[in-house]
Amino acid sequence: MAETKTSGIQAQEAYSISPDGENFPLPKKEEYAPEFKRIEKLAKRARADGKEIVVVMGVGFVGVVMAAIIADTVDKKGRASKFVIGCQRPSTRSYWKIPILNRGAAPVKAEDPEVYEIITRTVKDKKTFTATFASDALKLADYVVIDVQCDYLKNDLGNMRTGEADMAALEATMRTVGEKIPPRCLVLIETTVAPGTTEFVVWPILKRAFAERGIKSAPLLAHSFERVMPGREYVSSIRDFWRVCAGCNAEATRRVEKFLREVLNTKDFPLTVMDRPIESETTKIVENSYRATILAFLNEWSLFAERNGVDLIKVIKAIRMRPTHNNMIFPGPGIGGYCLPKDGGLGYWAYKHILGFEDGDHIFKITPTAIDTNDTRSLHVAELTRDALRNMGRYIAGAEVLICGASYRQDVGDTRYSGSEMVVRKLTEMGASMHVHDPYVEHWYELEIQDEYPSPGHSWSRFFRNQKDLTKLRVQKDLAGALKGVEAVIFAVPHEPYLKLDPDWVVKKAGKQIAVIDCFGILTDENIRRYFELGCEVKALGRGHVQRIKEAVRKKPRR
Ligand SMILES: NC(=O)c1ccc[n+]([C@@H]2O[C@H](COP(=O)([O-])OP(=O)(O)OC[C@H]3O[C@@H](n4cnc5c(N)ncnc54)[C@H](O)[C@@H]3O)[C@@H](O)[C@H]2O)c1
Repeated sequence: MAETKTSGIQAQEAYSISPDGENFPLPKKEEYAPEFKRIEKLAKRARADGKEIVVVMGVGFVGVVMAAIIADTVDKKGRASKFVIGCQRPSTRSYWKIPILNRGAAPVKAEDPEVYEIITRTVKDKKTFTATFASDALKLADYVVIDVQCDYLKNDLGNMRTGEADMAALEATMRTVGEKIPPRCLVLIETTVAPGTTEFVVWPILKRAFAERGIKSAPLLAHSFERVMPGREYVSSIRDFWRVCAGCNAEATRRVEKFLREVLNTKDFPLTVMDRPIESETTKIVENSYRATILAFLNEWSLFAERNGVDLIKVIKAIRMRPTHNNMIFPGPGIGGYCLPKDGGLGYWAYKHILGFEDGDHIFKITPTAIDTNDTRSLHVAELTRDALRNMGRYIAGAEVLICGASYRQDVGDTRYSGSEMVVRKLTEMGASMHVHDPYVEHWYELEIQDEYPSPGHSWSRFFRNQKDLTKLRVQKDLAGALKGVEAVIFAVPHEPYLKLDPDWVVKKAGKQIAVIDCFGILTDENIRRYFELGCEVKALGRGHVQRIKEAVRKKPRR
C-alpha cells in the first residue's frame, strides 16, 4: 500500500494510500507539535465543558467503533460526557485512517449502516471524536483504551505449536503510554492478549516508566476483551453485548467498572467483574478455543459423512433441535476470521513464555489439534475440485475455476484468514486458473498485496508454489460475467446472493457443463439433482448423500 514519490532532487516522500486509492503524505517531524496543539485545544474545550478525555490507541476494526461508541456516550442529563481522541500510528499501511476519520468517514467497510452513522454523528455533529497521529495526546487522557493488534504468527502450516505471539506492537504502545499518561489515568487493554500479559508484561512496563518519571503511585491498569462481530450487528456487538473485566488492583477495578457501565449498555447486558486480569484474558482465550474446538471436531464427522452417504448439514440441523445443542454449526471450508485461528495459540504460547511452564505439550492436546485441523481443512476443497473435474474427464491443471466467496463468513466483507484464501492458493499450486466473485469484498489484500498481508513475511503464500501471479487476481462483482467460460464453481461462503441461484442460470452463464463444489451446505437437494440432470458434477464438503442423488439421476430413464 505504501508508495514513495520522487520529484527531481527533492527528498523522497512517503505516502499512505487508502483502499479507494487516495494518497495521504505521511506527517513530517515538524507537523507533530502543531497537531498536538490542535488536539490540546480541543481537549481543553471539552474538559471545560465537563467531558472526560479518552484516548483510544489503534483505530482498526475494533478501536474505531469502540471509539465512536465512547464518543456517543451521554450522562444522566443526556449531555455528551466523553471526548475521544483516536490515536493511530502513522504507518504507510494505516496512516490514511486518520484523515479519513477526521472527515467523518469510516476507515472500515461495514455491512452495518450504524457504523457510518455513529462515526459521522460523533465526528461532525457532536464533535466528540477526533483522530490524530500525535501520541502526545496520551498526556491529556483520563482513560486510555488499547485496541492495537496482538497476532499469533505461525511458522508452519498445520502446526500451531511452532508459532509465537507477536507482542511487538502492544509492547511498543505500552512503553509510549507509560512515558506520557497522567498518573491517575486508567489504562484499559481491550486487545486479545496471551494470558498473563496485563499483569506480567504490561504492568511492569508501566511501573518502570512511572518509576523513571518519579511517579510514586501504581499505574491503573485493567483488561476487558472485545467480542465484536464485524457484520450487520457490528456496533451492537460492542455496545449491546456482555462484557468481562478485571483490574490489576482494587482502584483499577473500580475505575474500569465505572467506565464500562457509562459507555456500554450494561443494564441489558450485565458486566462480569473478575478478580484478576489473567482471568479476563483466559475467558477470551477459552471461549474462542472452545468454538474452534467444536468446529474442528466436526471435521472428522464431515469426512465420515462424505464417505458414507450422510448429509452432515441435515445431521446438524436435527441435533440443533435439542436446545442444549442449538449452537452447533457446520465448519465450512476452514475456520477464518481474525480470532479463532490465533487465540488458542496465544494461550499455548503464554503457558511457556509468560507463565514459565515447560510441560505445555503434555497438557495442551486438544486446542493445538483443533487449530491445526481448522487451518488445513480447506485443502480438502482443492481435492474435491480436482476429483469433480476428473469425473468429467478434465484436469485441474489449466482449468478455469471460479470461487464464490472470499470472506471468512456469510454476508461480511472480512477476508482475514478465510478458508477461501487457502483454497485459491492450493488450486493455484495445482495449476488451476483462479477467478473470484464476492458481493461484499472490494479488495482481497491477502492476495493483491501478499508481500504485506497479513504482515510482511507472513502471507500464506509461503506455504505453496507458484503464488506470484495471485497479486493480479481481482474480486469480480458481476456473477454472470464471472461465470462465463469457467469449468468449475466453488461455492465457498453462504452469502445471501448465492443461496437462491438457479442451476439452469448458472450453467447457462458458464456456457458449458461445470463441476460444482458446495463447501457450506449452500445447495438444496433439488439444486444438486438439477445440476446432475444438466450433466454437471457435484461434490460437497460433508455431504455424502450427493452420490445418492447422482445415482438416482443417472438411473432415471432419459425422456
Ligand atoms: N476484528 C475482530 O473481529 C475482533 C473481534 C474480537 C476481538 N478482537 C481483538 O481486538 C484487537 C484489535 O483487533 P483489530 O481487528 O481492531 O485489529 P486491526 O489490525 O484492525 O487494528 C489495530 C490498529 O492498531 C494500530 N496500531 C498498532 N500499533 C499502534 C500504536 N503504537 N499506536 C497507535 N496505533 C497502533 C494499527 O495500525 C491498526 O490500525 C485484537 O486483539 C483482536 O484479537 C478483534
